[in-house]
Amino acid sequence: MSILLTGGLGYIGSHTAVALCKSGHQVVIYDDLSNSKVEVVKSIEKLTGIKIIFVKGSILDFDTFQTVLRDNNVDTVIHFAGLKAVADSVIYPIDYYEVNVGGAINVIKAMKEEQIKKFIFSSSATVYGTPIFLPINENHRKKAINPYGQTKLQIESILEDLARSDSSWRIACLRYFNPVGSHSSCLIGENPIDIPNNLMPRIVRVASGLEKELLVFGDDYPTADGTCERDYVHVEDLADGHLAALNNLGKQEQPLECFNLGTGQSCSVLELISAFENVTDLKVPKAISNRRSGDAATCYADVKKSREILNWEAKKSINEMCLSSWEYQNFIINKRLL
Ligand code: NAD
Ligand code: UFG
Repeated sequence: MSILLTGGLGYIGSHTAVALCKSGHQVVIYDDLSNSKVEVVKSIEKLTGIKIIFVKGSILDFDTFQTVLRDNNVDTVIHFAGLKAVADSVIYPIDYYEVNVGGAINVIKAMKEEQIKKFIFSSSATVYGTPIFLPINENHRKKAINPYGQTKLQIESILEDLARSDSSWRIACLRYFNPVGSHSSCLIGENPIDIPNNLMPRIVRVASGLEKELLVFGDDYPTADGTCERDYVHVEDLADGHLAALNNLGKQEQPLECFNLGTGQSCSVLELISAFENVTDLKVPKAISNRRSGDAATCYADVKKSREILNWEAKKSINEMCLSSWEYQNFIINKRLL
């Protein structure tokens, strides 16, 4: 039996593919390459010594996706594919609903037709909206504050209805906090087609001279140093979280469970910059600018449920996250210069 990863050549999917291959699973990747490169297939194979099956295709193409499920003896689908830029989702909401919600419906419908009922979904801490208590546990009320968040909420609702309608499904919604870092080999990492707006990729771009300075969005929040606090989690830990969720699916009593994947620790914008400067011995020129609309002051996970049920815990430190992000950026730059 194999595990199919939609969007498996992307940032989180590729790290998860490596973790799955290393633990003996046959991996099939279905990705339309809209935000990744086909070379990632070779990198995954080089890292694991295992051949994977890759099919280029969109989750919006129902027939192709169903054929891939049918032809590859798929047992479980891990659904990473989707659009993820919050700001873009405000400008192009219909694209986000089409790809994220429409795409998820296609994936689930094709699985239903092929009698495949094990599903792991890439959800996000964004489903909690602005936190009303901390740390955020899985029972925190859900509220979308932008179209991207709305798509994640809608998919979770669809999955809840599905689980209610047929209790033989086994579904895990993994709510990622702030994934950062890269694989220790530097062969895979966050290398999107578009320039990301997230903090760590921005720090790395400024440190390597690609941008002049980092804008810190607000230093007047009610936090210790006035800047926003987040729960950064290393992508290799996150990948292991998928393996843990996969192992748990067989034992899962309820058809659907949600799990926070974070460290349970918060780190401010200034603390992250300072950790990055310390481990790399570089300066990150910065300027304080206005608050970014929609940002919560503090957001971090209660990880009790993941620890107790999935037996999973993030292990890597903020310093390791900074170092691996920087090493990967150097690797990419050197590769381009060669
Ligand atoms: P990514 O963009 O690196 O990976 C997504 C992959 O999906 C890409 O390889 C892209 O080519 C592919 N894809 C996009 N549209 C597709 C389509 N229509 N058909 C087939 N493939 C398609 O993103 P990521 O950071 O790896 O995120 C993976 C998932 O995790 C996404 O669903 C995202 O919303 C979610 N998530 C990410 C973060 C984060 O900060 N990275 C946080 C929370 C949740
Ligand atoms: N920030 C800056 N300067 C920048 C970029 C970010 O100061 O150039 C600040 C933001 O204002 C925020 C913090 O850094 O306070 C983190 O911002 P990110 O954009 O890196 O992350 P977010 O917490 O806003 O959002 C991320 C993903 C969302 C996901 C959410 C929860 O982008 O998709 O984590 O998982 F929903």
